[in-house]
Amino acid sequence: MADPVPGLDPAAFRAALARFPSGVTIVTTRSEAGTPHGFTASSFAALSLDPPLVLVCLDRGADCFPVFTAAQRFVVNIVTPAHAALAVRFATKGEDKFADAGFEFDDQGIALLPDAAAVIRCELERAVPGGDHVILIGRVHDARTGDGEPVMWYRGDFLRIGESAA
Ligand SMILES: Cc1cc2nc3c(=O)[nH]c(=O)nc-3n(C[C@H](O)[C@H](O)[C@H](O)COP(=O)(O)O)c2cc1C
Repeated sequence: MADPVPGLDPAAFRAALARFPSGVTIVTTRSEAGTPHGFTASSFAALSLDPPLVLVCLDRGADCFPVFTAAQRFVVNIVTPAHAALAVRFATKGEDKFADAGFEFDDQGIALLPDAAAVIRCELERAVPGGDHVILIGRVHDARTGDGEPVMWYRGDFLRIGESAA
C-alpha cells in the first residue's frame, strides 16, 4: 500500500467519489485459451471521438487483471436495471460469472449482452498505469445501442434514471 497522504482522510475521499453518479458496465474479454473473463466497472468513460477511444480503469488486484492487460480486445456492455444482479455477480470474485446470463459471443469469442443499453467493442490500444489501477484504453471498432435505459450507480446503489432537472 502507498503511504497515507497527509491531510487526506481516505474515508472522506471515498465518500466524495461516491457522490459522483455513474453508469454501470460489464467489461468482458477472453483469455488466449478462450476462457471468458469479465468484471463490473463504473469507471468507464468516453476519451476521444476521432479516433474513437474509450477507457475503463481496472484494479491491479483483480483476478482478471492479467487476462485484460494481455488481451487484444475487450467489450464494454452498458447495463440496464434488469442486469443489476448480474453486475453484482461480475463484481464478486470467484463467481461463475457467465453461467445462464444470456451472453452471446462475437466473432472474436468475447461475451456480449444482447439486451444491454449499449455494446461497445474495442481493441486494446494501451494499458496505462494509474496508481493501484491500470487505464485500459480501447479503440472502438463497433458500437450499438439497445432499447433498455442504462442503470445508474450512486452511493453504493443501483438506481433508475430519474426525471429531467432542466
Ligand atoms: C458498481 C460497481 C462498479 C465497479 N467499478 C469498478 C471499476 O471501475 N474498476 C474495477 O477495477 N473494479 C470495479 N468494481 C469492482 C470489481 O467489479 C470487482 O472487484 C471484480 O470482482 C474484479 O474482478 P475479479 O473477480 O476478476 O477479481 C466495481 C464494482 C461495482 C459493484
